[in-house]
Order: sequence, then structure tokens, then C-alpha cells
Amino acid sequence: MKDLCTKIKNQSINVGIIGMGYVGLPLAIAFAQKFNVVGYDISEKIADHLSRGKSHILDVPDDYIKNYLNKSFYPTTNYLDLEKSDFIIICVPTPLTEEKEPDLSYIKNACQTIGKILRKGQFIILESTTYPGTTDEVAVPILEETGLKAREDFGVAFSPERIDPGNKKYTVDKIPKIVGGINEDCTEIAAMLYGCIIEKVIKVKDAKTAESVKMLENIFRNVNIALANELCLIFEKMGINAWEVIDAAATKPYGFMPFYPGPGIGGHCIPLDPFYMSYAAKRYGFIPRFIETSGEINEFMRVHAVNLVEKGLKQVDKKMFGAKVTVMGLAYKKNIDDARESPSIKIIEELANRGAKVRVYDPYVKSIKTNAGEFHSEKNIEDGLMGADCTVFVVDHDVFQGMEIERIRVLAGSPIVVDCKNIFKNQKTDFNEYFGIGKISKNV
Ligand SMILES: NC(=O)c1ccc[n+]([C@@H]2O[C@H](COP(=O)([O-])OP(=O)(O)OC[C@H]3O[C@@H](n4cnc5c(N)ncnc54)[C@H](O)[C@@H]3O)[C@@H](O)[C@H]2O)c1
Repeated sequence: MKDLCTKIKNQSINVGIIGMGYVGLPLAIAFAQKFNVVGYDISEKIADHLSRGKSHILDVPDDYIKNYLNKSFYPTTNYLDLEKSDFIIICVPTPLTEEKEPDLSYIKNACQTIGKILRKGQFIILESTTYPGTTDEVAVPILEETGLKAREDFGVAFSPERIDPGNKKYTVDKIPKIVGGINEDCTEIAAMLYGCIIEKVIKVKDAKTAESVKMLENIFRNVNIALANELCLIFEKMGINAWEVIDAAATKPYGFMPFYPGPGIGGHCIPLDPFYMSYAAKRYGFIPRFIETSGEINEFMRVHAVNLVEKGLKQVDKKMFGAKVTVMGLAYKKNIDDARESPSIKIIEELANRGAKVRVYDPYVKSIKTNAGEFHSEKNIEDGLMGADCTVFVVDHDVFQGMEIERIRVLAGSPIVVDCKNIFKNQKTDFNEYFGIGKISKNV
């Protein structure tokens, strides 16, 4: 494996990346600026798109791909193309099973694929988010089924991905990278690799420490958002604007970090990771109360958003059953096209369950699948608003923030607006039919 260090210094390594999604594709393009990169995905559609210079990830424009395509970036569905890779980085999904337990099948499949081509001197890095112990207990044993020995014949490390889709300031190269190998040599080699493309690399003791860093980061967000949500529910009852409280508290120069309420959390990481940690904790006989309670509070916020719609309708003597409600925003956060685990899904289902006729609009997401059926976005904001009895803003996309609330009421022909993200903070909203999460509503 020592050869790898020389090869890195000579810039003569080949990198293989498994999984060309939100994490793998930006990483592949970052590496392609210095090294030859094979981007392997099981999806024919994704590999075909990439081979034609077309990106399916909003943060990676087509031009980025075209710049490196067939020069230093080679998308493929053929795992044999990974054979020459000195480093193979795994960026596959880590969802939950029906029972809300970690689904490691993608990681296992990726390791089995590597097993078919693994040779001495290669180095495998897992980036998929998972519970502490996965690299040592799950990945290494599968790779060793080849008869080769980790540490002696091939290297292994874990390095959590911290990408923030839609964030233009913190791109792959600007986000400090945590690296933990299965021994010290592995940590050093993996750190050297990432140091070629990332400004700051932080080495930690081992793989399970690196896995734990990611768990801490995401659970920290989950718990603090839950705290903001719980306090906001209390403040609403007390007639206190939670957003004003949080912004004022955030002026404290030390010991406080602002988190904001909202309709719940979404995406592929923050809602799922607490379940990974809970699962791991229970294997050690520990019941994590704090982590699980925060999940429940965040889940409840979707119901709260729908309750506000119901209260709004009541203001104009309408019932939820048969009311036309438009959901504005389907993505799990602003200015992105990813709707996985989005709060909008549960809000749409809850609205439909209570008998509302739901329409949706999102400038980035064309359609969304829910238990109440698939919903297709209206063509534009005006079409979404037209004829709505109530408009509920679930996501604070920039295009929504630029809208005038009075114009929305006129276009919809209805006065009711439910604001889950404090979108209209700088506008006059003290009318009876405005309801907002964490806001003072006259009729709560
Ligand atoms: N999306 C984020 O913002 C984000 C941020 C940090 C960490 N993560 C973590 O990174 C990991 C990947 O997430 P993502 O958002 O990139 O997922 P994704 O679904 O966007 O992409 C995963 C890709 O892997 C491919 N794939 C699945 N199994 C494969 C296999 N056996 N061989 C080859 N390709 C395979 C899929 O076809 C897909 O294109 C997850 O563990 C996630 O929790 C995601």
C-alpha cells in the first residue's frame, strides 16, 4: 500500500466511485480535476445520461461533466471498469427498512461488487452515512471473503460525506473532511488522497470514530430543530413570535446557535440517521430517549401545519372536506430539487386524508409520490394559486420569498395563507386568515 503514497504524489492514481448520486457525482467531478475517475452506477439511465454529458444533480451543471467526460471522467455500469482503480469510494444509499432499521443492503452489494475485482494494493473508502462499527463489522468481512486481508493486502477507511446540496459557498473542496482508517496507515493514506482535492482534512483515531462524527452532526441538528419546534408550539399558545425570540437570542455572541421551527425535517440524512444511532445503541443495551423523542416532535410538525390549514379554513366558514388546498414547495429544503423524505409528502397525505383537494407547485420538483397518490406540480405559481381556498407554504424557496402576500391572496381569490417557514417575515401579516408556524395568530 506504500506505493499508493508515491502514486498520489505523482498524481498517477485512478479513482473509482460507486454511486453517482447527490454525493458520488460531485465527488467524482472534484477528483476528475486531478485524477482519472471511473464513476460506476448500477442505474443504466444515470450512466447513460452522464455519458452524454447530462447531469441529474442540480449542483453539478452539464458543463462540469462535459469538461471532464472521456478525458478524466468515465461513467459506467460495468464494474470491471473499477479494476484499475487504486482507490474505490462507496457512495451508495443507506435508507431504512420497513421496520425503521438500518438497510445496509446497498453497502453490502457495493462491497460484494468490489470483491469481484479486489486486488492487492487497492484502497476502499466508505462514505455512506451509517452507524459506528459498519466499516469494521460489515464492510471489511465482505471484502475479506476474497481471501485478501485488510490492512496487509488492501486498505480501508471511513470518511463521512458532509455535502450540503444547494449550498454554493461550501462546495466539496471547501468542506473539511473527516477521515478514519481501520489502522493508522490507512488513516494516513486516505487523508493524503482527500488532501489533494479538499482544503482541510481532519484525521481521527479510527473508522468508528469517523462514523460517529457524522452521527453526532446529524443528530445534533435533529435534536436542536426538535427543541426549536417544541418551544415554538409553546410560544404560539402564549402569543409569542418564536422567530423573533430565536433571532434575538442569536445575538448572544457565545453559547447559543440558532435553530428554527418548521413543518418537519426531510432529506436522505437527518430524519434517518437517528434511527441508525438508536439501532446501534440498542445493540449495546441502551435506549436513547432524547434522540427518539426529538424524532417524534419533528414528525408532529406536519400534523401541526395541517391543523393550521384547518384553522384558516374555519376563519372563512369552510371545512377541510372538499376544500382546495395548494401546497407550495415539495423539496425537503429551499432551492433544491430533492424531495426525499420531504415534509410535504406527509402534509399532502394528511390533507388528503382529511378530505382536501390538493394541488402542488414547486419550481424544482416536477412530481411527488405519496400514499395519497402522485401529485404533479402546476406549471407556474399563478396556476398553483388560482382558485385555492388555502395556500400553504412548506418550503422557503427564494422565488416564494420574493412574493407579496397580498398578491397571493388576490390571485388565489382566497385570503387564507399558512406559512410554515416565516416566508413573509417582512410583510404585514396581521390579518385574521394568516397562520404561521411559530407566528402569532389571532385565532389560535
Ligand atoms: N444527499 C445528501 O445530501 C447527503 C449528504 C451527506 C451524506 N449523504 C449520504 O451519502 C450516501 C449516498 O447518498 P446520495 O444522496 O448520494 O444517494 P443517491 O440515491 O442520490 O445516490 C446513490 C446512487 O448509488 C447508486 N447505487 C445504489 N447501489 C449501487 C451499487 N450496488 N452499485 C453501484 N451504484 C449503486 C444508485 O443508483 C444512485 O445513483 C447516503 O448514505 C447518504 O446518507 C447524503
